[in-house]
Amino acid sequence: MLVLFLNLKLIFVATTISHIMSGNTTFTMIKPDAFEAGKTGMILQKIIENGFRIKALRLSHLHKEDAEAFYAVHKERPFFNGLVKFMSSGPIVAAILEKENAVDDFRKLIGSTNPAEAAEGTIRKLFAESIERNAVHGSDSDENAQIESNFFFSQFDRH
Ligand code: CMP
Repeated sequence: MLVLFLNLKLIFVATTISHIMSGNTTFTMIKPDAFEAGKTGMILQKIIENGFRIKALRLSHLHKEDAEAFYAVHKERPFFNGLVKFMSSGPIVAAILEKENAVDDFRKLIGSTNPAEAAEGTIRKLFAESIERNAVHGSDSDENAQIESNFFFSQFDRH
């Protein structure tokens, strides 16, 4: 009986922790086009104004191999080489963001991948040049948010 009770308690705690953790963070990069154009401050301000808290922040310049690894899921796509070249062409700003429903809310805030199709007021509509030079990246799932956050940040880099 005691074992059953402890097992149930363990399941309850694990479910609660996973509920608390899932969906509350996402990962973003301000891409070389937006950084080079001096848009970093305005983009971060818009992110914060929309209720996201910055949990980690870092300025980096990706090597070609880093960009290839980060975007490995797209390696069979025709745009892969151009994407890697662009993403390693200049500094990027990487961040982990926290908010309820972070992944979906952030994707709404940044707008469609192609800025020509992005809704008015979205970050890509305001700051992006083209489907490749599209100002910001946002994770597309909770799982990828964790993978991408871990790509850039150790536990010590997060508050
Ligand atoms: P991002 O959200 O960083 O995820 C993958 C990136 O690939 C995407 O933003 C775009 O920058 C890029 N991408 C997606 N589709 C195309 C395309 N058809 N042509 C060029 N780049 C693309």
